Amino acid sequence: MRATRTLPLAITMTLALTACGGSALSGEGGDGGGDDTVKIALLVPQSGVYAPLGKDMEAGFRLYLEENDDQLGGKDVELTVVDEGAGPEDGVPAGTKLAQDDSVDAVVGVVNSATALGLTDSFDEAKKPLIIANAGADAITGKESSEYVWRTSFANGEVGSAIGEHVAEEVGDGSVYLVGPDYAAGDEFLAGFKKSFEDAGGEVAGTQMTPFGKTTNFQPYLQKVRNADPDAVFAFYAGSEAVTFVQQYDKLGLHENIPFYATGFLTEGGALEAQGKSAEGIFTSLHYSSALDNETNTAFVEAYEAENDGPPTTYSVQAYDAGNVLDEALEEGTSGDDIVAGLQGTGEIDSPRGTWSFSDQQGPDQTYYLRKVAQQDGAWTNVVEGELTKPSS
Ligand code: PHB
Repeated sequence: MRATRTLPLAITMTLALTACGGSALSGEGGDGGGDDTVKIALLVPQSGVYAPLGKDMEAGFRLYLEENDDQLGGKDVELTVVDEGAGPEDGVPAGTKLAQDDSVDAVVGVVNSATALGLTDSFDEAKKPLIIANAGADAITGKESSEYVWRTSFANGEVGSAIGEHVAEEVGDGSVYLVGPDYAAGDEFLAGFKKSFEDAGGEVAGTQMTPFGKTTNFQPYLQKVRNADPDAVFAFYAGSEAVTFVQQYDKLGLHENIPFYATGFLTEGGALEAQGKSAEGIFTSLHYSSALDNETNTAFVEAYEAENDGPPTTYSVQAYDAGNVLDEALEEGTSGDDIVAGLQGTGEIDSPRGTWSFSDQQGPDQTYYLRKVAQQDGAWTNVVEGELTKPSS
């Protein structure tokens, strides 16, 4: 992480204006910014069930800029924020437009796996870097994707896989029921869990996928869970779906009777605040918690809380770290190939999640933590219980 510097007023105003505008600034036009300027577009949801995640990502990216004089790689940043929308029907056209817009040097963001999968070819063809700061579909990065697509978040399979062995130990001879939204990410989180859970001797009682972005009444699905009489549940949900699912799990009386495990997105930030006591005792797997005890995180949480209403989330950190890696990469120059060469040269990233580095799949090689929802200093928190087995995928 770069040293903290104070944000000049003029730059704050430029950033505020570009954020409202929703389209790239023209500057010199043509090939992105001039030698001293770089144009970055942040593509995050401002509508749909994942809108709260987009807000956290924007706050994380802006914090990195503020702490670094609104410069990345020694160049002034012109930032524009573009709505990813509710799903690929909005996000793919919005992202494709940015890939083809010569005035934009690099794009950061993308929450939804289906959207990211629909964008990799356009960025590859345009030779423009796309730094995915959330979407986890396993095939987005790596050999089968593009040298221009990088990721500062996670691979879906890994998050589920990390906790499978632990749950198998906890339930012993018992069985676990799997639930998630019916799209690329839901499938992969559950598949990653299933593989490591079954490899460790666990038994799956059943699987229920729910229509993504359209389900506000989970009761018929939860009834099926209850009828299967499992010894535990494992789920992936995020954003507003996570709030509804957890509240209804509690309301139907499942909370007291069936231990609940999940990917950590279920209980992040605003979702956990809304769930409150209905989330108490849920165990999750994730690569971050705002309660992580390390120096970088302590400084990050303090700076983030000074600018925002609540503590940072994993979404904020993923975008903050995208700023960090771009800061290093842009020292090479602003062309797509310069930025890729810079990304290839990044070593250990000093992150609030703990140090990590890029794997040969162009995504983080990082630690996953076991977290438990409990009250700490009067606030519902993902208390860190320990580190999980390193995922194999
Ligand atoms: C995804 O679509 O990859 C996704 C969305 C929300 C999350 C995590 C992953 O919280």
